[in-house]
Amino acid sequence: MRTPLVMGNWKLYGTKDSITALIKGIKEAANTTTNVDVVVCPPAIFIDHVANNINGSRIELGAQDISTNVSGAFTGETSPLMAKEFGAKYSLVGHSECRQHHNDTNAVVAAKFVCAQANGLIPVLCIGETPEERETDKTFSVLEAQLKAVIDVAGIEAFENAVIAYEPIWAIGTGKVATSEQAQEVHAHIRAWLKPQNPSVAQKVQILYGGSVKANNAIELFAQKDIDGGLVGGAALIVEEFIGIIEAAK
Ligand code: PGA
Repeated sequence: MRTPLVMGNWKLYGTKDSITALIKGIKEAANTTTNVDVVVCPPAIFIDHVANNINGSRIELGAQDISTNVSGAFTGETSPLMAKEFGAKYSLVGHSECRQHHNDTNAVVAAKFVCAQANGLIPVLCIGETPEERETDKTFSVLEAQLKAVIDVAGIEAFENAVIAYEPIWAIGTGKVATSEQAQEVHAHIRAWLKPQNPSVAQKVQILYGGSVKANNAIELFAQKDIDGGLVGGAALIVEEFIGIIEAAK
């Protein structure tokens, strides 16, 4: 009942040529796997280039990060309105790398979520715990605080039109994927935690898993009841890997 969603997060990688080749390579799989939504999130500077290349395909476009402002004196930022004008449908907000390197606090992430949604983008709220937090049994409380910060500002109903991506920080770019049981446990917990606040939202919201997803572990992860697809970094840059992940989601 929830449409599977596979998102590629290209981070700060790519050239015009490599991106053209990558899209060419994944286009057919995206077009034929009609029950899976496929999204790519390029570096902001390539958004228009990607928009031109995905034209006429089922691949959709997302931003990796978004400003809390639509315009103004904010050097270096990407406006949700501008991303939308170039065809973006989604924006990641609160990716752990932005939380870590750009000092995106829970409050900033909430403001980005609201600004993205108010300007017609579907926010993909990334949440996740550090290795220390997992080792000291703080995983659930950390995730709840990350979700609550957004719900307090945007309201639970905002998740009627948003996506959650659970990305344990210890699994991002490390090759150390969460087991399907570990991931499912967290996804089920998130849904159960949302349920008393709004049962329909809890039921409908897509919850993606991210962190070292590859073609060979995606099938088992995506087979879990509460895992609705993946947010994919490294493997999204490799045609055969990304195709394998799209196919694992169908
Ligand atoms: P990874 O990255 O797949 O390379 O671990 C995931 C992400 O950061 O979204």
